Amino acid sequence: MSKRVLKVGLIGGGGGAFIVNPHQKAIHFDGTRRVVCGALHTDPKVAMSEARKWPYKLKGYPSYDDMIEDQARLPIGERIDYAVIVTPNFVHYDPAMKCIGAGIPVFCEKPLTVTVDQAVDLAKAVKKCKVPFGVAHTYIGHWSSWFSRWIITSGKLGEVRWVDAYYLQGWLATRLEEEGQMQASWRTDPKRAGASCCGGDIGSHAFMQLRFVTGLEVTHVRGMVETFLTGRQLDDHFTTYCKLSNGGRALVRATQIAIGRKNDLGIEVNCSQGSLIWRQEDAERVTICLPGEPDRDYWRGAVGGTDSFLKKLPSWVADEPTIPAGHVEAFHDAYARLHRSFEADVRKYNAGKKFNCDGSKYANVEDGVKHMKFIAAAVKSARNNSKYVRL
Ligand SMILES: NC(=O)c1ccc[n+]([C@@H]2O[C@H](COP(=O)([O-])OP(=O)(O)OC[C@H]3O[C@@H](n4cnc5c(N)ncnc54)[C@H](O)[C@@H]3O)[C@@H](O)[C@H]2O)c1
Repeated sequence: MSKRVLKVGLIGGGGGAFIVNPHQKAIHFDGTRRVVCGALHTDPKVAMSEARKWPYKLKGYPSYDDMIEDQARLPIGERIDYAVIVTPNFVHYDPAMKCIGAGIPVFCEKPLTVTVDQAVDLAKAVKKCKVPFGVAHTYIGHWSSWFSRWIITSGKLGEVRWVDAYYLQGWLATRLEEEGQMQASWRTDPKRAGASCCGGDIGSHAFMQLRFVTGLEVTHVRGMVETFLTGRQLDDHFTTYCKLSNGGRALVRATQIAIGRKNDLGIEVNCSQGSLIWRQEDAERVTICLPGEPDRDYWRGAVGGTDSFLKKLPSWVADEPTIPAGHVEAFHDAYARLHRSFEADVRKYNAGKKFNCDGSKYANVEDGVKHMKFIAAAVKSARNNSKYVRL
């Protein structure tokens, strides 16, 4: 019997918004989820007109309060199965808390909130209400991120010594916010973005990639949080030097002023017996370097068999549905993998079964809290001569 198609409600996404588009593609990717309603804009009139203009039938609400109130009245099966929050950072906490309070699962954009206190509060509510909660750290949704995680956490390359996790962009190399560009305007405003622009916006992705791939935590951080563009209120360059929970060290760095860099997120993990190298702009390939041997490139969809280094892939890596190698997977596929994994937990929740949101397939609310603490610690360190701050 085919599964009931899950219903999804959008919070944010109208009026030329950015990240709603990959989300809705990812939601519809498998035919098992679809968007049915949305509170798409902060202005109620625009929210309704955007809903009418939507490319497919969608029930519009003037505000997310209206949407949550209305949906919460319905029984499971009729109401939305989860809400996707794609608003600027300062509009994550309130709708997320309201959804959680109404028993509606939430898939929220990152960074989780604008302050650590809000994030901690939210995590407490999620724990208390026992509702599935995911945070949209896109890049851990790549198959190659799962593959990398298995290689490093299974110890195939030995002990992690040094990690370089980075996210380099160039789109804020001019004062775009002065031109009223929507995405730049709120990202550079501390009230709407939080304590850091570059760190919160993309440093958080590099930090998540480090934690996801290595399975290690950052215990101490030294930060240099800098602003190159005169008059800009928040940082556009974010560099941290970190101590890891196994005694290793890491650089977690991000910049938005590197002209020519687009979405250059990557990770290099140097271990005692070899290294792993991956870049999201070349997301299908993971390079493994072993001493005295030619480098090995592993391509998604073309891994397995009798390889002397890999041996046998575990089923959670090997069985993940993919198209054959060479038919390229990218950003939207990564988002879809996150939604697919979240869907599994939502279905268990709907059926009254145990679900785990354990962070192994998508980021959870605890990950969101850790990222907020990391950003706050880096900013604190930067204000204190880059001295180590304990996390
Ligand atoms: N995971 C990723 O790779 C990724 C990439 C880009 C953005 N993001 C995150 O996604 C979020 C949105 O970013 P964006 O670039 O799409 O922003 P955006 O400015 O393009 O869109 C924000 C949307 O939220 C709406 N909105 C604002 N306040 C609202 C309210 N009170 N009620 C309803 N709608 C409201 C706006 O009208 C707009 O539609 C941010 O938290 C950002 O950090 C994540």
